[in-house]
Formats: sequence, structure tokens, C-alpha cells
Amino acid sequence: MNKIAQIIQPDDFHVHLRDGEYLKHTVQYSSKYGRAVIMPNLKPPITSIKQAWEYKNRILEINPSFGPLMTLYLNPSVKKEELKEIPSLDWLLGIKLYPSGATTHSEEGVKVSELEKFYAYFELMEKYQIPLMVHGEVSDYEIDFFEREKIFIEKYLINIREKFPKLKIILEHVSSKVGVDFVNSYDNTAATVTPQHLHLTRNDLFFGGIQPHHFCLPIVKTAKDQEAIAQEVLKGNPKFFAGTDSAPHPKNKKESCCGPAGVFSAPISIELYIYFFEKHNKMDWSLIEKFLSKYGADFYGLEYNKRKLSIFQEPLYIPQEYPLGKETVVPMWAGKTLNYTTLILD
Ligand code: NCD
Ligand code: ZN
Repeated sequence: MNKIAQIIQPDDFHVHLRDGEYLKHTVQYSSKYGRAVIMPNLKPPITSIKQAWEYKNRILEINPSFGPLMTLYLNPSVKKEELKEIPSLDWLLGIKLYPSGATTHSEEGVKVSELEKFYAYFELMEKYQIPLMVHGEVSDYEIDFFEREKIFIEKYLINIREKFPKLKIILEHVSSKVGVDFVNSYDNTAATVTPQHLHLTRNDLFFGGIQPHHFCLPIVKTAKDQEAIAQEVLKGNPKFFAGTDSAPHPKNKKESCCGPAGVFSAPISIELYIYFFEKHNKMDWSLIEKFLSKYGADFYGLEYNKRKLSIFQEPLYIPQEYPLGKETVVPMWAGKTLNYTTLILD
């Protein structure tokens, strides 16, 4: 194999591993990443340190050398007294805000009409320097699906941002130009960037017939929105770093009527990110390494991974399906071939 580069092992700053019989698969699908931020939207959600600890241990049982960085799911059952313990727990990275109704398993999240009730949490999180990860979308029926991020930012997130200026806020899976501008306008603010928001636009939802495997939330948007995200990544803005939002749902559910939101990319996501730089004629390994392996760690104040990722100029065929418990999941870019393959060799 023709090895052409080696970079610091990447981290995935946003992934859904699910639980139960899916876990033995999903942990392995993410195992080229040194660490990953594990989203807490299980049923029931992870709202206590104890639940997060047990979930982490279930993950580590499957792969002891993986680095799960756990999150709590913000809702009234999160105990304020627990917050002061979080800074001493190096495996518990932050708290995730899901506006209720905005996405998969967000029903028990925060009603935006009651958001101000949670300002007491934000105050403590600012004090203890606990990052707030945000699913930045409203969920009202009346609001255009493609405007959900914009409206959430304008109506709610800017208020939180300005009231708690030292709170670290991550606009997860940024999907719009408004989102990019928001992140660039404030200190202590960053965004995760997914492969789907770099590669797909809303045309990909409909081209050739409806494409359920391209449906995720926030929904992929216009070419202009995509371009705004792409430009930040290509110019090496440290506020924008990799977080796949790989969110597996079984194939039969995705292909049913009323299929759930989520694009699955974990096992091939590093290659999909590399392909983004390739597509834009920017095969600059130092830039790629910063986006995949440095900027996120810098924002969260983590050390870089010790291991290295080797990159080979070797075609990578993306299978049509991957096993998921007794079911299968269809990955992004299924059936296509990429030009680079990556491996952790040391
Ligand atoms: C995620 C899921 O399936 O858990 N779905 C998605 O479309 N991204 C939840 C989320 O991050 O919104
Ligand atoms: Zn997610």
C-alpha cells in the first residue's frame, strides 16, 4: 500500500453510539478515532454522572483503548449539585442542550418556552467551566424546516451567548451561513462540522427520488450554506472542527414511511473528511490534521492523541450496509469508492 501521510489520530467531537446490542458494532465503527464525544440521547436519556459512568464502562468493555468523552442530557432531572463535580471528571466533557422535539430522542429535552428556567444551570456551567453543546434548532411546526437553526440562534442562542460570555458553547453540526456567522461573532464559541453538511445539499435529499439516508437534523441546506461552512474549514478556522454526528438507524426504519433523522458515517467518516479536502484541491495534511486532530482538542483544553493515523493512496469501497445488532445500517456514500484509506498502525 502506498502510504502518503501520517497525522495525529483524530477525535470525533459528536457521535451517537446508541446502546444495547448496537453498541458492540458502533464502538468498533468509531475505533479509528482516539476519542469521541458520546451523545446522551438514549432512552431514557443520560442525565446523571452515575448513568454516564455506567454508559462509559459499557463502551470501554467493548474497546478498552477507546476514549469516550461523555455528556449529560440537559433537563430538569439533572441535579445542580452534581455540576461542581464535573470539572474533576476528565471523562465527562459537557452538557448537551436538546430543544424538545427538535430531533431523535429529544422529547425529554428543554422546552424552548422554558429555556430561561435553565439559566441557573448555565450560570453554574460558566462558573465551573463546563461546556454547553447545543442542538441549535427550534421545533415548532410553523417554522420552515430550513430556517430552524437560524430562528433558534436569533431567538434563543444569542441571548444565552450574551448573558454567559465565558460559557463555552459549541453549535453542534453547524448547517447554515447564519450558524457560521454566529460562531465567528463570539469568543468561547465553536462548531462541530459533519461530513454530510460538507458533502450534501438539499438537492441530495430529492435528486433521483427521495433519499431517506440523507435525512438528518439539522437538515442539509442550500449550496450557499454549505459553501459558508466549507470556507471556514478550508481556511483553517480553529473554531470549526470534526464531529461526525454519525447517527445509526436501522435500514428498515430509515426506508419506512416517517423514517427517523440521522446519517451514519462513523467507519468511513475520516475518509469522507479527507475527500472533502481533495474535492476542494486542498490536500494539505497539516490543515487536515488541524481540523481532524487538533482544533477540537484545543477548544476543549485536551491533549492531542498520542497515536498516529496513516493515510494510504488506496481505493476505499464503501459497503451498501453495515451490521447493526440483528439489523443493518446504510452508510453515507454507500456503494461509492473514495481515493484514500486510513489505518491506525502504531
Ligand atoms: C441524531 C440521532 O439520531 O440521534 N439524529 C440526527 O439527525 N442528527 C440526533 C441529533 O444529533 O440530532
Ligand atoms: Zn447528533
